[in-house]
Amino acid sequence: MDKLLITGGNRLNGEIAVSGAKNAALPILCASLLTPGTIALENVPALKDIDTTVRLLSRMGVQINRNGDHATTLDASQVHSLEAPYDLVKTMRASILVLGPLLTRFGQARVSLPGGCAIGQRPVDQHIKGLAALGAEISIEHGFVVAKAKRLKGAVIRTDMVTVTGTENLMMAATLADGQTILENAAREPEITDLAELLIKMGARIQGHGTDRIAIDGVESLHSAEHTIVADRIEAGTFLCAVGATGGEIVLRKAAPETMGATIDKLLEAGMRIECGTDWIRGSMTGRPKAVGFRTYEYPSFPTDMQAQVMALNTIAHGTAVIVENIFENRYMHVQELGRMGAKIDIDGHTAVVTGVPALSGATVMATDLRASASLVIAGLAARGETTVERIYHLDRGYERMEHKLRSVGANIQRITRETA
Ligand code: UD1
Repeated sequence: MDKLLITGGNRLNGEIAVSGAKNAALPILCASLLTPGTIALENVPALKDIDTTVRLLSRMGVQINRNGDHATTLDASQVHSLEAPYDLVKTMRASILVLGPLLTRFGQARVSLPGGCAIGQRPVDQHIKGLAALGAEISIEHGFVVAKAKRLKGAVIRTDMVTVTGTENLMMAATLADGQTILENAAREPEITDLAELLIKMGARIQGHGTDRIAIDGVESLHSAEHTIVADRIEAGTFLCAVGATGGEIVLRKAAPETMGATIDKLLEAGMRIECGTDWIRGSMTGRPKAVGFRTYEYPSFPTDMQAQVMALNTIAHGTAVIVENIFENRYMHVQELGRMGAKIDIDGHTAVVTGVPALSGATVMATDLRASASLVIAGLAARGETTVERIYHLDRGYERMEHKLRSVGANIQRITRETA
């Protein structure tokens, strides 16, 4: 298995181009199932999760062309399978996003239940409840969600909690339903707005995306469209945390700073200097960061997907930070590994208390999920000596060529591949 070898202590200086957002690209690729037309996408990130989605859609009969640099076209005019099998769904929970599109366009779908994952239970009951409210007959058979409906019927749906992929699945399903659907308590993440913008280009009638009440008027069919995926706010935030931990100055190009308010506010509070244009961010740091506490909530509050990275910054800060994780019940698996590098962190339920130390010391650590891996890389860049981050396949799911991007701004980081290990 690949690992990363990092020699800490280098300041980061230079420019990095931010990739397209994984969490926007995944639902957008699945949205191609809604039409026999062609969906032409730009800025699709080169990631493992994208490969998995492409494999999943290809197995269903979607013709997919990945045209070199981040351009992808999808043609779902000849879909021959309405099933998402367990072997793919288990590696990527977002596969559940094919459920709404398949059901609404073809009248049936069979999608494996994802099961648990490292960061918690993560059920899909709200997706199922919403589709049932739209008139689908749903049963669980042999570990699969089996859904049928001649044509979905618009309805008012209020999910019990705010769910990102749940909102996306229901929004996609409602585009071809008969009549109006209102999604109340909808998620407001920028990735949902990006998906809605693509759907509107395909002919969908959607209003209120970006708010907690989305209204969708069903249409008979959707058509071809072109779209450029929004920039990845979590990747950009991760690089800002890296420079916050090492010191130096980086400029992020092709960024979407307007989607990063809560993260940027925290990093300013930590002592970084941050300047933004419409599509760029300059972040710099001198000296040791200040401890910054935060609570994760749904967008536009502080994102759970940045919790681990800002925690890494806090491990070497002046002072003590209290962090509360409100979205997932088991998202502190990086804590033990950061502890192996000398971090002082106490966990009590959903709360972590981080007492900054003057320096971390390099160690061999193991990545346990995507954002936990990113926090270990940040810690390794700032630590004294060598850090080996093992099991980085998690990182490859969500960061495009992370070691190349970091090396281009002066980090001493190398991938050791299975063959050379
Ligand atoms: C998405 C993101 C993930 C991010 C998360 C929260 C994608 C592909 N992934 O995941 O990176 O960390 O949002 O911002 O976009 N829940 C239920 N029942 C459901 C659905 C959700 O109980 O049917 C719970 C979950 O267990 C969790 C909370 O609701 O505690 C929020 O989860 P949700 O927003 O659905 O996360 P994802 O969409 O899976």
